[in-house]
Amino acid sequence: MSKKILIYGGSGGVGAATGRILHSKGHSLHLVGRDAGRLAAVAHELGATFTVGDVNDADVFAKVAAEAGDSLDGLVYAVGTINLRSIGRLKESDFINDFRVNAMGAALAVQASLPALKNSVNTPSVVLYSSVAAVQGFAMHASIGLAKGAVNGLTLSLAAELAPKIRVNAIAPSLTNTPLAQGIVSNVKMVEAIAGMHALERIGTPEDIASLTAFLLSDETSWMTGQILSVDGGRSTLRVKS
Ligand SMILES: NC(=O)c1ccc[n+]([C@@H]2O[C@H](COP(=O)([O-])OP(=O)(O)OC[C@H]3O[C@@H](n4cnc5c(N)ncnc54)[C@H](OP(=O)(O)O)[C@@H]3O)[C@@H](O)[C@H]2O)c1
Repeated sequence: MSKKILIYGGSGGVGAATGRILHSKGHSLHLVGRDAGRLAAVAHELGATFTVGDVNDADVFAKVAAEAGDSLDGLVYAVGTINLRSIGRLKESDFINDFRVNAMGAALAVQASLPALKNSVNTPSVVLYSSVAAVQGFAMHASIGLAKGAVNGLTLSLAAELAPKIRVNAIAPSLTNTPLAQGIVSNVKMVEAIAGMHALERIGTPEDIASLTAFLLSDETSWMTGQILSVDGGRSTLRVKS
């Protein structure tokens, strides 16, 4: 059955890879992002409608909800930041921005789309993104760890509140090769070093994350809600060197 899915961050690494899987399965998409040219190109490739907007703008969520249609079978919030600094160098504005983009934006996106999700004849599915840094401590991750920890709490709260009509789950990736991570993944030596810290000896691809996203949006996971699933090459649970 064809579904209608809204993807915030639909032009990004994970968002576009997810869109490609969903498009190949015959689902229709509405995409959101800031860069109009990049968003229009992905939307054209996927036959999607789109809204250009910044999640820092409080008005964007109502605009997206109005343009995405009256009924939604899925919502993906694939927007995030990487802002790695020591606690001494993080400004209040860094914490606020990371919290706003990663956590508050996810909450406001779900809130604005709730009427459309409730209108679905299916059991709609919401997919949010946490991080390995929400469950394992890393230096320089205070701001993103705080924001992604909030995503974990949001996922559990919404899953409880919106059941049984709407399912809510989150995916917690480790380092994944997307535009977001270019500051790290463009350094070959750094990638080799970080890959070696993973039991599966590589960093993630957008498709690693997108395939689980598409699965969580599908009816095959119709009895899953309130889960925060690690897709991280074993980084959160396995120590590879003693
Ligand atoms: N990549 C990783 O290593 C990694 C690790 C852990 C968790 N994650 C999480 O995975 C999710 C997907 O990340 P990704 O790696 O796919 O990121 P990405 O490639 O940078 O894509 C981000 C998407 O969000 C849009 N976006 C960014 N800021 C926005 C804003 N303020 N308002 C509206 N749209 C905005 C971007 O569009 P524009 O460019 O047009 O703004 C783009 O479409 C995020 O929640 C991220 O935190 C990623």
